[in-house]
Amino acid sequence: MPAFKRFDKSYKIISNKEICTGYFELKIRVGDVAGYCSPGQFFMIGVPGVFLRRPLSIHDVKRDVLSFLYKVVGKGTKILSAMQSGELQLLGPLGKGYDLETYKKSNPIIVAGGTGIASVYFLATKLEKKGTLYYGARSKRDLLCLDKFKKMGWEIVVSTEDGSKGHKGYITDALSEKLDENDVMFVCGPTPMLRKVLQIAKSKNVRGFVSLEEKMACGVGNCQGCAIKINGQIKMTCKDGPVFKIEQVEL
Ligand SMILES: Cc1cc2nc3c(=O)[nH]c(=O)nc-3n(C[C@H](O)[C@H](O)[C@H](O)COP(=O)(O)OP(=O)(O)OC[C@H]3O[C@@H](n4cnc5c(N)ncnc54)[C@H](O)[C@@H]3O)c2cc1C
Ligand code: FES
Repeated sequence: MPAFKRFDKSYKIISNKEICTGYFELKIRVGDVAGYCSPGQFFMIGVPGVFLRRPLSIHDVKRDVLSFLYKVVGKGTKILSAMQSGELQLLGPLGKGYDLETYKKSNPIIVAGGTGIASVYFLATKLEKKGTLYYGARSKRDLLCLDKFKKMGWEIVVSTEDGSKGHKGYITDALSEKLDENDVMFVCGPTPMLRKVLQIAKSKNVRGFVSLEEKMACGVGNCQGCAIKINGQIKMTCKDGPVFKIEQVEL
């Protein structure tokens, strides 16, 4: 686990490419900052012309270059997607990421929905054991990073809501029969998917970690906009998470 240090500086964009319709991979040279990043952490990105910074998970780190994988959904990500050069103000790395140590002998199961795949790819590169990726998306066009997971030796199960690839329906339908107590789960995706995965994991006594994507304004614990109940207590998703233990989360 890298030492904790947070930076707030502007860095040069190396590239910002549309990897498939509506999804972009942004690469930024960040120097020493790269050494402080761990899977599940995120940065608040200052986008010119929008008031609040936007949270994006660390998708990958290669030497001194950070990658972010994002979907264009609104004003901030639209402006960001048009930036091919120049500098961006980055605050981070922020939050507490995935615990890679406690269950490192267990069989890893990653469950990702939609853009949740962005953060779990960096996680997969850091896990000692390779396991199974369960990945659900709307359609074949929304499935990202499959080749990269395959290359690392991960087994892949996909589902799409329209049936254009893999199981037709939700990824949680494919997941339920396969789990046992030797597995450890790492989960990131939209809240309805998380809710269902938590239900399945708890019913099967499977331990693990879930990354929550609450709306965030400050990203550092000041505005209380990302409050969530963890183990019966109010916590800030940005500062105390975004990754929490499965058994502690109530959604
Ligand atoms: C910790 C964390 C990590 C994230 N990582 C990724 C990632 O790696 N890739 C990716 O595509 N998306 C990610 N998201 C979601 C991403 O932050 C939003 O899609 C983005 O902020 C939308 O901004 P916008 O201006 O385009 O949209 P708008 O809808 O115009 O945004 C308006 C406001 O809502 C906030 N917001 C909107 N949608 C979300 C959302 N789903 N989650 C959190 N805040 C939101 C924005 O920050 C902004 O303050 C992450 C969210 C969080 C909390
Ligand atoms: S985003 Fe402000 S407290 Fe979490």
